Amino acid sequence: MKRILILNGPNLNLLGRREPGVYGSDSYEAICSRIAAEAEKQGMEVEFVQSNSEGALIDALHAAMDTKEGVVLNAGAYTHYSYAIRDAIAAIKIPVVEVHLSNIHAREEFRSTSVLATVCRGQISGFGPLSYLLALQALAAE
Ligand code: DQA
Repeated sequence: MKRILILNGPNLNLLGRREPGVYGSDSYEAICSRIAAEAEKQGMEVEFVQSNSEGALIDALHAAMDTKEGVVLNAGAYTHYSYAIRDAIAAIKIPVVEVHLSNIHAREEFRSTSVLATVCRGQISGFGPLSYLLALQALAAE
């Protein structure tokens, strides 16, 4: 059974209450439930980690290296400037799929840059909670 880490970065714990016009009205917990249901369908085992700290996200990526077969990562705003997270993704050998609820290419200029994209297996952006489910499907097909 493939083991997948679902890793969420800063402010994503506030989903549902945070800018619902941009990120939707589903809570973090509700989205996790949908992901868990999709994982079961795909025969995958998922672990959820959310942190508002860059170091904790890097630690979670390192831990995934020997314990998971893939990562679904929404790094939040770190996507746009964290070379440290970029290097952590490059260091681990497992595929990481970058996801975003919103379409980062259709918003403010600074969001259209992802410093993570070149070291990720792929990027899924703009489909709301479905972005996570599509990422799981992509990892199932690896
Ligand atoms: C986000 C997009 C980022 O630009 C933003 O900082 C987030 C959420 C998304 O899921 O759409 O925190 O990653």
